[in-house]
Amino acid sequence: MKGIILAGGSGTRLYPLTKAVSKQILPIYDKPMIYYPLSILMLAGIKEILLISTPRDIGGFKELFGDGRHLGLMIEYAIQEKPNGLAEAFIIGEEFIGDSSVALILGDNIFYGTNFIDFIENATSLKIGGIIFGCYVNDPSAYGVVEIGDNGEAISIEEKPKRPKSKFAIPGLYFFDNKVIEIAKKVQPSSRGEVEITSILNEYLQRGKLKVEVLGRGLAWLDTGTNESLLNASNFVEVIQKRQGMYIACIEEIAYRKGYISKQELMELAYPLMKTDYGKYLMELADSTVEEYSLAYSSMNGG
Ligand code: DAU
Repeated sequence: MKGIILAGGSGTRLYPLTKAVSKQILPIYDKPMIYYPLSILMLAGIKEILLISTPRDIGGFKELFGDGRHLGLMIEYAIQEKPNGLAEAFIIGEEFIGDSSVALILGDNIFYGTNFIDFIENATSLKIGGIIFGCYVNDPSAYGVVEIGDNGEAISIEEKPKRPKSKFAIPGLYFFDNKVIEIAKKVQPSSRGEVEITSILNEYLQRGKLKVEVLGRGLAWLDTGTNESLLNASNFVEVIQKRQGMYIACIEEIAYRKGYISKQELMELAYPLMKTDYGKYLMELADSTVEEYSLAYSSMNGG
């Protein structure tokens, strides 16, 4: 399965914060927002990733991740000229997806919870249809909403309904078979002028091929749409990281634990960050001895 991160949009709801920089580059505590969705694709075991952003912002992401090889990934980039809607990701990404199945994650969605990894690992083995998640939230009217039947099946899907039929919001993480490209091409723009992801979901629903996984209380799905929720997300990450001593969305750690990079490579990534707690954390992970540390240093300096 391949993965797409959609990290475009105008970010106008966060102006002036996002007047000159991409929303998905803004900090969530100690790292750029985009690290969080990237970490989710990595945890799902997806290594081939297409990052889509605006003509203005794509350069920043390239600078951040390059071709992804240092993380054991293959990252490609594509431009979305205008924020025409989420469904466009599959049209822009058609060549990248090829004949594969594909996961789409929105660049501003943050997930945290232990069992979640099992859910997403399972979802990557999808062969036919689509998989979405249902998250119980207080006010679902700002999201896509799924109505769920007694047997856990999806009954209806609506985008930002004024009167939601359920409390289950659909977070920005979707898994589809290869038919999603053909379906996306047929989606008509909604009244707000966007090709909606929910139109794709409705097509899968009508074909009887949409599965919903309900995520329980243990899953934190954090919003980043307002200044307040942005700050709350940062505070959340800080609290967990300080208390547990384990980092959320530490992409170098995930690459190391998954065996994509060696201990030596982890130390090389840590070295330029040693002025920060983040870098020290990486170095501790490598459980480095002084000899190993100096080896990393000398190889960084061509020695
Ligand atoms: O966060 C989950 C929600 O995301 C879902 O529940 C909704 O069904 C889905 O439509 C979407 O709703 P939003 O109102 O949050 O979408 P928004 O326009 O804010 O875009 C979400 C992210 O995708 C945002 O970071 C910007 C980016 N984006 C958006 C559009 C419309 C793009 O990169 N390109 C686009 O064309």
